[in-house]
This record gives sequence, structure tokens and C-alpha cells, in this order.
Amino acid sequence: MTVSFIVNGQRRTVSATPDTPLLYVLRDDLELNAAKYGCGLGQCGACTVHLDGKAVFSCLTPIGAMQERQVTTLEGLGTQEQPGILQQAFIDEQAAQCGYCIAGMIMRAQSLLDRNPAPSDAEIRRHMQPNLCRCGTHHRIIRAIKRASAVLSSQNGKGDAS
Ligand code: FES
Ligand code: FES
Repeated sequence: MTVSFIVNGQRRTVSATPDTPLLYVLRDDLELNAAKYGCGLGQCGACTVHLDGKAVFSCLTPIGAMQERQVTTLEGLGTQEQPGILQQAFIDEQAAQCGYCIAGMIMRAQSLLDRNPAPSDAEIRRHMQPNLCRCGTHHRIIRAIKRASAVLSSQNGKGDAS
């Protein structure tokens, strides 16, 4: 089948069998390689992207369900030259160690900040639970999310004052 959908703000059209995982289409057809294949079973979160603004496991999401939907990947949050606020916070906190889980971590965290720019520690911990990190970077990841949250709050504060 042919599927036409919006990826990082751009319309993309691909041909694939309907049950092809979105993750494969992103990586193999669209050359968006940030999302990673970890378990392929919805158990690790390495493949997390946003679908219509919500974090989903792209390894479990069939391309056949993507017609006219909006997908955002890590590439959609910023570039190496101009990282997004959360990406910059991960850099500042040195929260990325292996690079394997991090794209998924950032996309999961971004979905929280989009909905709630000032989450509590407990909310962050609960929200991030589906995403696994094997190398023990959890504290830095939480610090990065809080740092991004603080930047967002200060920006909102400036907006209120003007
Ligand atoms: S690869 Fe999708 S959850 Fe592990
Ligand atoms: S930083 Fe990726 S598994 Fe820990």
C-alpha cells in the first residue's frame, strides 16, 4: 500500500505492506536513524517517537495506520547546530552515554514537557518508566529533564512579563 503522512513537518509518501513497523520505514525508507531498534517488542523504548503528539513505540506501530497522521522523531526537535531545549539540556547534563536509548528517552520526555512544562520529580519518574537505560544514567536524565523544564519556565516567565 501507499501511505502518505507528515514526518517532522514534511509530507512523506512511502510504499510498504501495512504491517511494516513505522520504525523500519523511518530508518530504512526515510533515513531518519535516531529512533533505534532495541527489543522490537514494546519493552525498551529505544524506538520511541511521537504520533499525533503522543509518545509511541514505533516498533509496534504499523505503517498501515499512519495515513495522514503526524509523526515527530528526534530529528524534528532540533539539529546539531541548533539543538532543541531538551536536547541541549541532555548535552549540558551529559545525560547521553551509549546513544542507544537516548533518542527514545528524549522523545518520551518531550511528550511530558509538551503536556506539562513543569512536572514534579515523581511525574518525571512515572512518565519515563517505559524507557530503559542499561548504563545507569537515570539521574542525569532526570536532571536534564528538570533543566529543560527550568528553561521553559523562565521563557514562559519572560512571555508573561512582556
Ligand atoms: S524497540 Fe521498540 S520498545 Fe524496544
Ligand atoms: S544511555 Fe543509553 S542505555 Fe544508558
